[in-house]
Amino acid sequence: MKVGIDRLSFYCPAYYLDLAKLAAVRQVDPNKYRVGLGQERMAVAPPDEDVVTMGANAALPIVEADGVEDLDWLLFATETGVDQSKAAAMFVHGLLELPERCTAVELKQACYSGTAALQFACAWVAAHPGRAVLIIAADIARYDLRSPGEPTQGAGAVAMRVCAQPRLLALDPWRGTYADDVMDFWRPNYREEALVDGPYSTRVYLNAMVECWKRYRDASGLQWDHLQRLCCHLPFTRIVEKGLQQLHRQAGWPAWSAEETARRISYGLAYNRQTGNTYAASLYESLTALFDTCPDDLSGDRIGLFSYGSGCTAEWFSGVVQPGYRAALWSEAHARRLAERVELDYQQYEDIVTLSMPRDGGEYVFAQYRTGPFRLAGMSQHKRVYERA
Ligand code: HMG
Repeated sequence: MKVGIDRLSFYCPAYYLDLAKLAAVRQVDPNKYRVGLGQERMAVAPPDEDVVTMGANAALPIVEADGVEDLDWLLFATETGVDQSKAAAMFVHGLLELPERCTAVELKQACYSGTAALQFACAWVAAHPGRAVLIIAADIARYDLRSPGEPTQGAGAVAMRVCAQPRLLALDPWRGTYADDVMDFWRPNYREEALVDGPYSTRVYLNAMVECWKRYRDASGLQWDHLQRLCCHLPFTRIVEKGLQQLHRQAGWPAWSAEETARRISYGLAYNRQTGNTYAASLYESLTALFDTCPDDLSGDRIGLFSYGSGCTAEWFSGVVQPGYRAALWSEAHARRLAERVELDYQQYEDIVTLSMPRDGGEYVFAQYRTGPFRLAGMSQHKRVYERA
């Protein structure tokens, strides 16, 4: 029985900052961000958008198209949780009016948790054919203003439906994994911005990529040329180029020509370049972009996927694109969402990211910005109040 990803729905906030504007204010050559990091814009979540609203907005098309009757689980992967106890999944459960029978939890391991959710979902579906799991991966990536991580910030969400006989990607059984207790990137509970040792985190990411690849190769018996396309966790899109160099040096991958690299990699970078890092959603945003923007027929192609979460846990896995996959995509809606975003000037960006949520338990009604159907309407007695806008 084939098990895997049946639907992919992408959502990002309606606002962005052009990194050329950030570069001008920070007195940095704009090519450092555009070429050196491979990033053009960063998505900025307005004050009435959080991971709950982004996740619900991403999942709504799936729920509307496919219904909720066969859903056993809602798994919410994030490192931007809104509550230490109540799962973001529970708020979404309410907003999407999921059945009482459908259980809901939140998962965390930095950017890796979406992949953990996917593996758990596939195992559940394999044991319960005919049932389905809804996964949401959503995050708001924040670093200190003026820190090296600032141009890699971002925000976004991907919702996935996992079931048997999936319309998009049937997952292979093999995985190559790696875990090590390191402090490359972390966010203590008392901080809204992550802390990171940037160069070290990049080295750990690249090392994990090679280690995972070797284990995946040994488990599957496949070689690099069995993977027609690649999608990776993308803290910034240029990291894939660094990954390929590392695989060439340490794992016998060939040095691809620019054309070969573009064919296998570039379509999967299209959205992340426009949103910045979306942490748990990032790999699945890349997969969505590959499906949406690649003009070739991907049917039958095996896609290699590399998931990395700081701290760190990483995994190499793969899946085969299913015939007729295009009929299950929302490519036009995704392109529209990205194209219709509103550009912020630098001061508007700084005003938004330095705004803190109220902490005094008072009554607050939040100004209405552009969002999807769901928004954060305010706070009341320490409770978040969501509404359908
Ligand atoms: P930095 O110090 O600002 O940048 O930090 P740099 O000086 O290393 O420059 C970056 C690149 O731009 C370099 O290229 C420069 O040469 C180039 P490289 O040497 O690497 O090939 N450059 C230029 N290129 C063209 N024209 C120019 C120019 N000037 C310079 N004029 C860093 C970069 C990524 C470290 C920083 O942005 C950072 O700390 N980011 C956050 C951490 C991060 O993204 N780490 C990645 C791995 S960890 C991960 O993926 C997990 C994560 O997603 C979290 C989670 O799991 O939850 C972050």
